[in-house]
Amino acid sequence: MNRSPETINLLLTRRSLLAAKLVEPGPTQEELQTILRCGARVPDHKGVNPWRIQVADRATQDTFHSQLPSLHSGNPASLEKTLSKEAKTAPLLLIVSSQTTSDRAPRIEQLLSGAAVCQNIIIAAAAFGYRSQWLTEWFAYSDKVKTLLGIPTTEDIIGFLYIGSESEIPKERPRPDLSQIVSKLQLP
Ligand SMILES: Cc1cc2nc3c(=O)[nH]c(=O)nc-3n(C[C@H](O)[C@H](O)[C@H](O)COP(=O)(O)O)c2cc1C
Repeated sequence: MNRSPETINLLLTRRSLLAAKLVEPGPTQEELQTILRCGARVPDHKGVNPWRIQVADRATQDTFHSQLPSLHSGNPASLEKTLSKEAKTAPLLLIVSSQTTSDRAPRIEQLLSGAAVCQNIIIAAAAFGYRSQWLTEWFAYSDKVKTLLGIPTTEDIIGFLYIGSESEIPKERPRPDLSQIVSKLQLP
């Protein structure tokens, strides 16, 4: 393997940006194809390819967001928060789901592979100079939303990935102290 200090630097400095703060331009078609290829190139136990990626442009996002009120049930405050903060149209939205129907690999591994798709997409987008935000909120877990998106209710939505250019540079946020999460394995 070739060494890639740029990749290490990107991993150590990348930050998300709120969907509401993502502006034009978004990835070109050529960049998008590369981002998608990176997304589809993840560890996948038994090669079951459980994931699906839907691409939504601004117009489609507008339609999607406008339908959220009729699909929402429960606390009205959470819908209000979604509409004012999260469900904000960005230059590009990728919806990653995982169908986890194969019995060749444990279900959790098919979900985790879908998470790897999301992370690869975010990293690839960052390598092209774009910011992103990985959202789920209530709408990732709503059967009504899945039905609207043509996703079987047996399938899991792993992430709504909003992607675009930065309107501001986000400040770093606290990261865990490695000593709190890493330890030397001690066997009895
Ligand atoms: C599976 C998953 C779901 C997430 N869902 C939301 C969400 O619904 N709303 C939200 O504000 N942040 C959500 N986040 C967190 C953001 O995507 C992001 O991690 C956070 O804003 C800080 O990111 P950074 O460390 O990449 O800068 C989610 C993260 C993950 C991994």
